[in-house]
Amino acid sequence: MIEISPSVLSANFSCIKEEIESAERGGAGSFHIDVMDGHFVPNITMGPVIVRGIRECTAKRLDSHLMICKPKKYAERFVDAGSDVLLLHVESDIDISLIKKIGKMCGVGVVLNPSTPLEKAKEYFEFIDYLLVMSVNPGFSGQKFMDEVIPKIKKSREYAEDYGFKVMVDGGINKSNIARVVDAGAQIIVAASAVFRGEPEENVRTLLNIAAGVSTK
Ligand code: DX5
Ligand code: ZN
Repeated sequence: MIEISPSVLSANFSCIKEEIESAERGGAGSFHIDVMDGHFVPNITMGPVIVRGIRECTAKRLDSHLMICKPKKYAERFVDAGSDVLLLHVESDIDISLIKKIGKMCGVGVVLNPSTPLEKAKEYFEFIDYLLVMSVNPGFSGQKFMDEVIPKIKKSREYAEDYGFKVMVDGGINKSNIARVVDAGAQIIVAASAVFRGEPEENVRTLLNIAAGVSTK
């Protein structure tokens, strides 16, 4: 069963609760919060205050995707704000002790930018719950899916079977390419614009239906 994890980055924050409830009616399995600090990526988005607010809107799993330079310094604040999972970039300042420490507080995953080889995440495999493969360069929603990450998704899924983590893919996924991403082995699909442009309920349902049609894994 494929999970759709809407990223609230493209949601309308003047009615965020309604947006989230609509996505839930469509079958969203979790929600994804894109945290950007204006240094690690060239955009500034949200912090723990927003996580706390969204926590009150849903009982589903909340994944905080930390696109920040100093995850060590801020990780705990995102846990305290109600995150169920922290997703940390291998390109930021992380190490095994940090991943283990977060793993004791909540779920933990590592993230790979499109140009970062899978090998860079290997040392974390035995300690993580999720491996997030980026299919756009992080920073903005609404970018084009990068086809060249498909082999990395395939290989990630092989490791996932051995180590017991789940493969997430994030960036540029919509109803015309989700089948390919699922077929490559993605188990959790993150989508911002494909969910929140238009009616979230209908969009999530459509994505889930397409995914169910290809999923044999
Ligand atoms: C990219 C973020 C993604 C992004 C997805 O920096 O990590 O979660 O918001 O947006 P879409 O689905 O519109 O590509
Ligand atoms: Zn993200």
